[in-house]
Parts: sequence; structure tokens; C-alpha cells
Amino acid sequence: MSTIRVRVARKQIEATDICSYELVAADGAALPAFTAGAHVDVHLPGGLTRPYSLCNDSHETQRYRIGVLRDAASRGGSKAMHEAVHEGDVLEISVPKNHFPLAASASRSLLLAGGIGITPILAMAQALAAAGAPFEMHYCSRAQEHTAFHAEISAAPFGRDVHFHFDDGASVQKLSIPDLLAEVQPGVHLYVCGPKGFMDAVLQTARASGWPEEQLHYEFFSADVGPSVDDASFEVKLARSGRVVRIAADQTVVKALALAGVDIPVSCEQGVCGTCLTKVLEGEPEHKDFYLTPEEQAANDQFTPCCSRSKSALLVLDL
Ligand code: FES
Repeated sequence: MSTIRVRVARKQIEATDICSYELVAADGAALPAFTAGAHVDVHLPGGLTRPYSLCNDSHETQRYRIGVLRDAASRGGSKAMHEAVHEGDVLEISVPKNHFPLAASASRSLLLAGGIGITPILAMAQALAAAGAPFEMHYCSRAQEHTAFHAEISAAPFGRDVHFHFDDGASVQKLSIPDLLAEVQPGVHLYVCGPKGFMDAVLQTARASGWPEEQLHYEFFSADVGPSVDDASFEVKLARSGRVVRIAADQTVVKALALAGVDIPVSCEQGVCGTCLTKVLEGEPEHKDFYLTPEEQAANDQFTPCCSRSKSALLVLDL
């Protein structure tokens, strides 16, 4: 995986428990171009790797900006970013990857952000505004002090297209997802990013209202994909070598293969980023990810081995 050495040029508090980090190339060169919705994998002090969406204007080549919520339930990533990464530090990051791009065919875009889910959505708003493309944005958060980039967004030329909704505010300003999505709007593409409960509410409402899957775009930040009491053991066959590896009930495929000397690149390890996506040649995966669309999951020709398992006794992987 190709990486870039970047220096933390600026670390700034953006809201309660949220910091932004401005990353510039360590050698001072221009950074690889990116498109709105892209993320980079950040290699953190302590050995973890975590994906963070780029939230600056995608026309900028001199910097990347990410925003990180200090998560009380952190598995180490956000804690390391907040406590161990400081201005002047040099980090390795991946080149930008975009699994959450804007659809070129949209006649209008509906951008929905919940909490720290604002990061890719903010890049989208900037890109759409720069292109003169019509959009409407709704940004839901607990309270104004938890709303990262509030002043920046309010002052932006596209600020008039943005509606803020605070959980602690008057009921009149709260977002009614059923009202917003009641009618399928042809040509309108919906983008949502935020906590799982918020995303589930948006996507379930949109699907129940008949929004076609191709007009729905989403990126989960974190998910609850821990082990379940129903998890059983199964075997994985590596098609290229013919090796068979047993996956114990309490192991992920990624962990079992790593112990067998086969490393699959991972980032989120929660089924949300797609970094570990692996082709399935035979067998039926048990999808536990939030990355693939329902149609892609039903095709059963790929899965996320960081969290997904197998319904069949054997999975043959293109490894
Ligand atoms: Fe992110 Fe598997 S590592 S989906």
C-alpha cells in the first residue's frame, strides 16, 4: 500500500471532543489529488491504522484536513489521535481513497450529516458549491458546542443551503427525517454519514418511502460488529495456494489468516471502510459489514474478512 509522509501543520479544537488536523506533505510537495467523500488511512502512534475522511476543499493540493471525535468507547484510534498526535509530528498516511463519491448524474443532492459524520459531507458541500450544483444540507448534532465547523459553515457562501439541527434545541428546528424523505425525488441523490442510529433512521426511512438504492449513498464511521454468541467456526481455503485455514468461533478471518502468515490490509476493522474487501470464489459469506450495499452483499462474491463470517462450512477466497 503506498503511503505518504505528512506533517501535522495544525491541530485545532473544533468543538467539544473534536479536533481537526491539517496535514501537509513532509517534503513540502503537493499532495495527491482527492475527490469529495475520500478518506485516508492514518497510521497512528502505537501501531493502529484508522480511516478518516478528508473535510477540506478537494481543490486544495497543499493540505488535507481531517476531523476526529474523541470517542469515549474508543478502541484506541481516536484516543491516540487526541493524546499522542501533536503539531509538528510526522505521520504516515495512505493516498486518498474514495468509497463515498458524489454521483455525477445527480440533478440535486441532499446531504445529511450526524455529528462527526460532517467530515465527508463538508467536503461534498464545498465541491457541489464550487461546481454550482444545487444541494441542501442538514447537519444534526447534540448541541452547538458539539458542532464541528459550525462557524466556518455558517460563514461559507453555501451557508444558506445548510440547516443545523440541535438535539437540545427547540422542537421546531429538529429534523423530521420522515417528512424530508417522504417523497422519492427523481434525480435527487441522498448522502448520509454519522452515527449508526442516525444512518439507520435515514436509510430505513428512505427505503420504506421507495427511494431507489442507486440514489442512496452512505458511509458508516463505526459499527457494532463484535463477536456474537451465534458465531461458529468454519474453514477458509486460499484459492491460489490451496491452503485451508480454520477460523475459530472467536476469531475473525483477518486474525486467523494473520496467524497463518497471510496478511490482509485492514483499517477500521469494523466493516465500514472496505479496506479488507476480499473476493469470494465459492461458499456463502455471512455479511456483517456496513460497507457493501444490500445488492452487493446478496451477490456473495466479496466480503469483509475483518468482521464477516461464513454461512457455509467452507469459503474459498481469491487469495
Ligand atoms: Fe474496514 Fe474491514 S478493515 S471493512
